[in-house]
Amino acid sequence: MLSHPRKKILCIIGTRPEAIKMAPLILGLKEQDWVEVRILATAQHRDLLDQTLMDFSIVPDIDLDIMQPNQSLISLTGKLLLELDKVLLAEKPDAVLAQGDTTTVLAASLACFYAGVPFGHIEAGLRTGDINSPFPEEANRVMTGVLAHWHFAPTSSAAENLLAERTPGHKVFITGNTVIDALHYTAAREISLSVPLDHTKRMILVTAHRRENFGQPFVDICTAIKMIAVNNPDVEVLFPVHPNPSIRTVAYELLGNVANLHLVNPLGYQEFVMAMKLASFIISDSGGVQEEAPALGKPVLVMRESSERPEAIAAGCSRLVGTDVGVIVGEAEKLLNNPDEYKKMAIGVSPYGDGKASARIIGVLREHFC
Ligand code: UD1
Ligand code: UDP
Repeated sequence: MLSHPRKKILCIIGTRPEAIKMAPLILGLKEQDWVEVRILATAQHRDLLDQTLMDFSIVPDIDLDIMQPNQSLISLTGKLLLELDKVLLAEKPDAVLAQGDTTTVLAASLACFYAGVPFGHIEAGLRTGDINSPFPEEANRVMTGVLAHWHFAPTSSAAENLLAERTPGHKVFITGNTVIDALHYTAAREISLSVPLDHTKRMILVTAHRRENFGQPFVDICTAIKMIAVNNPDVEVLFPVHPNPSIRTVAYELLGNVANLHLVNPLGYQEFVMAMKLASFIISDSGGVQEEAPALGKPVLVMRESSERPEAIAAGCSRLVGTDVGVIVGEAEKLLNNPDEYKKMAIGVSPYGDGKASARIIGVLREHFC
């Protein structure tokens, strides 16, 4: 018999990375007898979210189905706030949890602040210090950092960022990143890739989607990826293309006809993890991939000017290459042709967690509520 009534915890997810990073926490909370877990999908991403939730067998209780083709940040934020207002009134949760720095997270933390519901921020404290990079994520996480009640920081440097902003120390908890929990859960299961690759060749895995890279920087990224593929016919390049039209249209237009460059639809999480395991190295502007690849011993060339994930760069397993064609191609050629350079980066460290982040977050919430 429980001495207290169960606490209602509403978990909000909007995009692919939020689903991946919230999944271990949702599955862990569901095992707690003191929690009633409710899952709200804003569906800021429709296809990518559904694809990812299926991998973790998670079914949302509420679905706002908010995604529109080519959605603008302002209309998305406005719609989310209005819909979240209704949900918070109807559900009356004891706490709300959301992860990261998307528009869904900013709207969720603001709605909770207005409604007086304590908000727990998963992956708190990441900063580049440049409000425009990444855009709009740096602004989203800074604003959410002001509004949140619990700050679950993945690393000590993320916690230090929060303390430097005068976040009260008793609200900051260093937990590790739940993405490593998700990776452990998934990487143990071997599956075969649906993409027909020549497995006798080395493979480079590519992803790109950042808004600050739209336009000329993404054209430059495509030029670099094409040069790498054309210059190295003994290598396979696998590029699962993000559905954002600003990425997809350009990628298919510029990279369509190269025999060893495979443009494919986004891969489900299990298959993408398999692709990371099979890759020689990864070229990406993704946040999550910067955390997962080091844990799998895969070097990452990060196509950004700055990163809020300095730990992997400091450890030597990822390198900022920006979007300059010459730099991207030069760094990739180094990894392909210089075994010592490759060995230096393929070291297999996990600065973002040990796979127990969700358990630590649940522990903090249990302590608070029970
Ligand atoms: C969003 C997040 C970004 C996160 C990324 C993860 C914001 C502002 N951006 O970027 O922080 O790193 O997700 O991938 O919160 N689309 C589809 N199907 C989908 C998903 C997207 O067609 O399943 C298309 C739609 O046309 C949609 C567009 O992509 O309007 C943009 O989606 P949006 O969520 O606004 O931005 P992302 O670039 O995906
Ligand atoms: N990912 C995936 N399928 C793909 C590409 C990426 O499942 O085709 C996963 C990847 O392993 C990581 C997450 O999606 O966990 C990263 O998402 P994304 O790059 O879209 O967003 P970000 O992390 O930059 O916010």
